[in-house]
Amino acid sequence: PPIYAITPTYSRPVQKAELTRLANTFRQVARLHWVLVEDAARRSELVSRFVARAGLPCTHLHVPTPRRYKRPGLPRATEQRNAGLAWVRQRHQYLPPPPQPGVLFFADDDNTYSLELFEEMRTTRRVSVWPVGLVGGRRYERPIVENGKVIGWYTGWRADRPFAVDMAGFAVSLQVILSNPKAVFKRRGSQPGMQESDFLKQITTVEELEPKANNCTKVLVWHTRTEKVNLGNEPKYHLDTVKIEV
Ligand code: UGA
Ligand code: MN
Repeated sequence: PPIYAITPTYSRPVQKAELTRLANTFRQVARLHWVLVEDAARRSELVSRFVARAGLPCTHLHVPTPRRYKRPGLPRATEQRNAGLAWVRQRHQYLPPPPQPGVLFFADDDNTYSLELFEEMRTTRRVSVWPVGLVGGRRYERPIVENGKVIGWYTGWRADRPFAVDMAGFAVSLQVILSNPKAVFKRRGSQPGMQESDFLKQITTVEELEPKANNCTKVLVWHTRTEKVNLGNEPKYHLDTVKIEV
């Protein structure tokens, strides 16, 4: 089955480096379709050029985050993930009725994904979960599994979350996405870190989750974050003599 990876992305000095790293991973995954959603009012030249040369199936969308939501402490990329969901739903609207095979997951542009992760998520029947490294103030967070079922969460942060899992810690089958057409990420009432729970609540229950990565004992994805780059030595005026593609 195909894997849809929905990636929100926004313009900043490290953007092309992040996308390059991500494409180098995704290119090695069979039948992966990349849904890249720019947080912008229009498609940027940089990302358009990048997508054209990425060497993998890619859909390039864009939607700007309303200015009032661009504030520290508010969840990021809500509108972009919803745009990706809407595109996937529309694409499958006119295909024969379910079950249509396929898996969808939300791949932030700065995380680190092992190739094994994709083989694990490919067998998702409804909603699957696995550990995420370097998140929640710990070396990893993970679903706690007993007799093949998720019974709780090992987490350092807000253990009261119904699904204490990062965006990088779950995948959803296409069938579940299509049969819950109203399931979306919500701005209203969603605090940062609660987006995952608020979304998962709409489509599944903890009892129903499918643990992957050897009963959630292997970290196959890391919530890495890229250091903010120091451009303190950029010249005030353009000094270079030729135009550089950065
Ligand atoms: C954590 C979670 O891992 C994210 O899934 C969650 O969206 C985020 O918190 C949140 O606060 O909502 P974190 O590393 O803090 O992630 O967030 P970023 O990696 O900075 O952003 C998540 C994604 O949104 C990235 O793909 C990034 O490119 C994108 N983004 C970020 C935008 O599209 N627009 C922005 O203004 C900021
Ligand atoms: Mn991140």
